[in-house]
Amino acid sequence: MDIFERILKDDGGPLGQYRKQAHGYFAFPKLEGVKEGEIGPYMMFNGQKVLAWTFNNYLGLANHPEVRKTDAEAAAKWGLAYPMGARPMSGHTSLHERLERELAEFECKEDAYLFNFGYQGMISLIDSVITRHDVIVYDSEAHACIMDGVRLHLGKRIVYPHNDIERCEKALQRATKICEETGGGILLITEGVYGMTGALGKLDEICALKDKYNFRILIDDAHGFGVMGPHGRGTSEHFGVMDKIDLYFGAFAKSMASIGGFVASHKYIIDYLRYNLRSQIYAKSLPMPLVEGNLKRLDLIRKGDDLRAQLWKVTRALQDGLRKRGFDIGAAEACVTPVFIKGEVAEATDILVDLRENYHIFCSAVVYPVVPKDVIMFRLIPTAMHNLEHVEYTLNAFEELQKKITAGAYKGAKEVRNMSIE
Ligand SMILES: Cc1ncc(COP(=O)(O)O)c(C=O)c1O
Repeated sequence: MDIFERILKDDGGPLGQYRKQAHGYFAFPKLEGVKEGEIGPYMMFNGQKVLAWTFNNYLGLANHPEVRKTDAEAAAKWGLAYPMGARPMSGHTSLHERLERELAEFECKEDAYLFNFGYQGMISLIDSVITRHDVIVYDSEAHACIMDGVRLHLGKRIVYPHNDIERCEKALQRATKICEETGGGILLITEGVYGMTGALGKLDEICALKDKYNFRILIDDAHGFGVMGPHGRGTSEHFGVMDKIDLYFGAFAKSMASIGGFVASHKYIIDYLRYNLRSQIYAKSLPMPLVEGNLKRLDLIRKGDDLRAQLWKVTRALQDGLRKRGFDIGAAEACVTPVFIKGEVAEATDILVDLRENYHIFCSAVVYPVVPKDVIMFRLIPTAMHNLEHVEYTLNAFEELQKKITAGAYKGAKEVRNMSIE
């Protein structure tokens, strides 16, 4: 069959099947700043001002005046092209090196290497350090970029149930046996913060297994970098295991409110990656405004104790308030706050419309297949831009929604409501 013909007949996949009703509203919503270019606690959506709990802008750097100034000046100075070429050819500058040096220092590692995007960086990182003789052991809820990296692996891979350390140990035992035959090694991959649920990877328990088994740990700390730990060095700092993490992966898309990412490790590993990491060898280097902008952001993260204090104050108030009101927020320990409610997709869309249109609160809703079929997950992301009034208002709104859910107010919904905005 012709490929395009098959796609034409496809229902669109688990989420794409709702495209007609969802586009522009439930999926691909167009959130605009109250002022042009501004990411803030309030945004405009569907003609109304909404309180937004949906950005990974944890520290509020997206609209920080120093960040905006640096970005604008750097863009005026360099343009978006500079430097032209991939890092090993003609895309390398002393500012790229400086950013790498500062990231490595911040993470207490010998060296670091930049990625243009976290996603590609992770895939390529896994691909670069692994051979077919090695075994990858990974958490079942790992981010799609880890899954894609694992998919490239030609050797054995063993998945363990999410954060189940007993099964993780069993997986390491199996992997050890396999490696005795192949002569390979073991790479264990976990996230620092699971970005959907705010659960933490059990880095302390995983690192403790290093006393018994020979393996290397790669953590994806996209959601932990800048936020977790007393100095924002990440989830490894939070657990006091920075020296046990062999490959620390951070992304700039969250607390840095930017684009790009990095890996930090021993110097000899980073030297190896510079000459072997395909997503950097065969792709244009990170443009200068992003390099300068990321240096500024890193500086603000280093000085960011007040921003982190505000973020955690808001996060704790939101999570404690939800728990006190009887909401199930799972294992949330990081800032990301899920609210799990029993219900089908059609019901979820009605609740979300009520929340957005009548309470003017904007958060994302996650449905099957990301969560089980009868579960709806609302995902709220507190930031340092929010305050306790925002929390109070939101808790009251959720309390009212809960009463309506219990009274069966949304039960009649049989189909996903058509809210598409073309
Ligand atoms: C856990 C995790 N890893 C990696 C990435 C990818 O990062 P980027 O957006 O820089 O490609 C994300 C971002 O969505 C993420 O949540």
